[in-house]
Amino acid sequence: MGIMGRLIMMAMPITPRFVIRWVANRYVAGEDLDGALKVMRDLGSQGACFTIDVLGEEITSLEEADFFVEEYARVLDAIVAEDFDANISLKPTAFGLLIDEAAATANIERITRQAAENEIFVRLDMEDHRVTQPTIDLVTEMHKLGLTNIGTVIQARLFRTESDIANLASALSGASDVRICKGIYLESEQIAHTGYREIVEATNRAIDQLLDAGSYTAIASHDMPVIDHSLSALSQRGMGPNIPDPRAEAGGPRKGKGPGYEFQMLLGVRGNVRRKLASDGHRTRVYIPYGSRWYEYSIRRLRENPDVAWHIAKSIIMPWTNRR
Ligand code: FDA
Repeated sequence: MGIMGRLIMMAMPITPRFVIRWVANRYVAGEDLDGALKVMRDLGSQGACFTIDVLGEEITSLEEADFFVEEYARVLDAIVAEDFDANISLKPTAFGLLIDEAAATANIERITRQAAENEIFVRLDMEDHRVTQPTIDLVTEMHKLGLTNIGTVIQARLFRTESDIANLASALSGASDVRICKGIYLESEQIAHTGYREIVEATNRAIDQLLDAGSYTAIASHDMPVIDHSLSALSQRGMGPNIPDPRAEAGGPRKGKGPGYEFQMLLGVRGNVRRKLASDGHRTRVYIPYGSRWYEYSIRRLRENPDVAWHIAKSIIMPWTNRR
């Protein structure tokens, strides 16, 4: 699989932009907010809720953060105006985290406050290892300010994950809200698991740990061994569709959330699995990225993890492996 991904990556520089655009169309909801709203309206009948992401990351000057602050304000206004069952996901480096932590914190606080006024949740996506701790710190900082409508993502491939989950649960108690995923960034073997089997096992352990710690657990995976494990871990704990969260450590119900957990998937990936989960009554959320930087986003994601290129190629050659 790694070799296939690498071969596809080598062909990228000679692949016409319109071909990449055609492929990206499946995974990116358009260049502007109207495109994202249209995709959400179209998907509305599938029993899913949404998280909206404005594409862009790692800005090089703080002025660039203004665009993201304003655009997310428009996204929040649109969610309220159209009464969408949606929240937002944002990348802290798009707000300046790698340039000036204090400025990034102020930018993110502004968005989180506007979201809080409308009971909308804010998820800080997790980027590469340089910002793991600063991103977690941002979340605890916001909670100290009384903004509890914010959580982050934990990447199960990282060795530090077990202690990050424990620390977040103890710092935020019932208000800890974590999206758990494998992690898209290929980190070094000094700090992360690198084999498929180890990563799946680490992801399943992290899901168990989150459930036992009382955290709201957003399971973000398209991989059946992870989804199947999650379903049995939930049922072992008496959790499931339409059952109030039985965990003593968990906080009370929150607007827009499931009974202590939900499943999340990316736009365009394994819609058939998502629809089955939804029809079984589980809360399912689709991650909706949009923005004019779709080309840079697509190329960068592929460079970071060439296996994604293979998943995409496979879904074109063998569409039954990935029904939209
Ligand atoms: P795996 O990679 O094994 O995929 C299982 C199957 O799903 C594949 O065989 C393929 O069929 C299909 N598939 C998966 N990804 C595909 C793709 N891109 N295109 C086509 N088919 C695909 N990571 C991170 O580091 N920080 C973050 O904040 C987030 N946020 C996030 C949100 C949500 C909602 C999801 C679903 C994922 C993330 N991720 C992430 C990415 C995550 O860490 C991980 O890289 C991907 O989900 C792929 O891992 P899977 O568990 O899906 O398994």
